[in-house]
Amino acid sequence: MEGITDRSFRHLIVECNAPGSVAMTTTEFVRVSQLPTPLLQLQDILGDKPAHTKTGIQLMGNDVEILVESARRAAEAGADFIDYNFGCPAPRVFKHGAGSALLAKPNLIADIVRESKAAVNIPVSAKIRSGIDHDSNIEDMCKQIEDAGADLIIIHGRLKTDRYTDPANWSRITRAVNAVNIPVHGNGDAVDNKTIQQMLDQTGCAGVMIGRGALNNPWIFDEYINNTARRTPRQFSDWLSNYAKLMAKRGATETQVLGKLKQAAKAMGPAGNIPFAQSLLRSNDFFGDLEHLLSEDLV
Ligand SMILES: Cc1cc2nc3c(=O)[nH]c(=O)nc-3n(C[C@H](O)[C@H](O)[C@H](O)COP(=O)(O)O)c2cc1C
Repeated sequence: MEGITDRSFRHLIVECNAPGSVAMTTTEFVRVSQLPTPLLQLQDILGDKPAHTKTGIQLMGNDVEILVESARRAAEAGADFIDYNFGCPAPRVFKHGAGSALLAKPNLIADIVRESKAAVNIPVSAKIRSGIDHDSNIEDMCKQIEDAGADLIIIHGRLKTDRYTDPANWSRITRAVNAVNIPVHGNGDAVDNKTIQQMLDQTGCAGVMIGRGALNNPWIFDEYINNTARRTPRQFSDWLSNYAKLMAKRGATETQVLGKLKQAAKAMGPAGNIPFAQSLLRSNDFFGDLEHLLSEDLV
């Protein structure tokens, strides 16, 4: 997720869950427009990959050749798989014919997947929304993606026009599952054990992709796979503190660290009633307050 799943976040998420409970993670989208993305940039985005999971680089663009060359470099950088973003609804992206704009051009999606498969020796997945303003093309689109050789389809049960507010419609995930023989992962509103299980049961999808739920609760994977209890507020606080330290260690500025922490704290706060997160959101001098906040007895 853009602005969230940077290498520090991905590392901590994978590390705090029991080995194997996070099957795969993906970078934030890499916008590919005029030129192929430089290898060094892809290596930096990928970072040192966490153990016990597959890490994919997500590319987003609309030029076959430039995307395929970027995919080749992403493989060289060490990505375990290439994921294509055909779902981003952001106006600035859509206006430039990328992300969810490609849902109107399934042939172009298929060309990107096909040419990429010919160019790299790692799996290629396609992350799609269910359509732009209607969902009648789900089956055709998924079949085209399958025929182009994709290894996996990840379908978000919203349309582009639904943005993030309308509830995800999981019957669209079921339709994708029934349309193809390759694995389909469902996405949208799986936020805890109950909803993860419901998505699997209702749609028959082979896996569940979790977005915002991992920001609300970093242990969401372990809780589901190993049936572990919800972590304590103190553990949530420690997670935030480790996140801050890791980002700072990796060269993030104070402003960047604070911005990301506030975002995480906001997501965790209402769900987990994390005192640390609440204090953080009210803080005007985060770094000045950090030690004090961490020394409080929060449990
Ligand atoms: C802040 C934000 C950034 C996102 N960035 C990306 C992205 O870079 N690539 C992507 O495929 N999806 C991105 N998404 C969409 C999520 O991956 C996911 O499809 C969506 O949030 C629905 O799933 P969820 O209910 O599990 O969050 C983003 C969502 C949010 C809220």
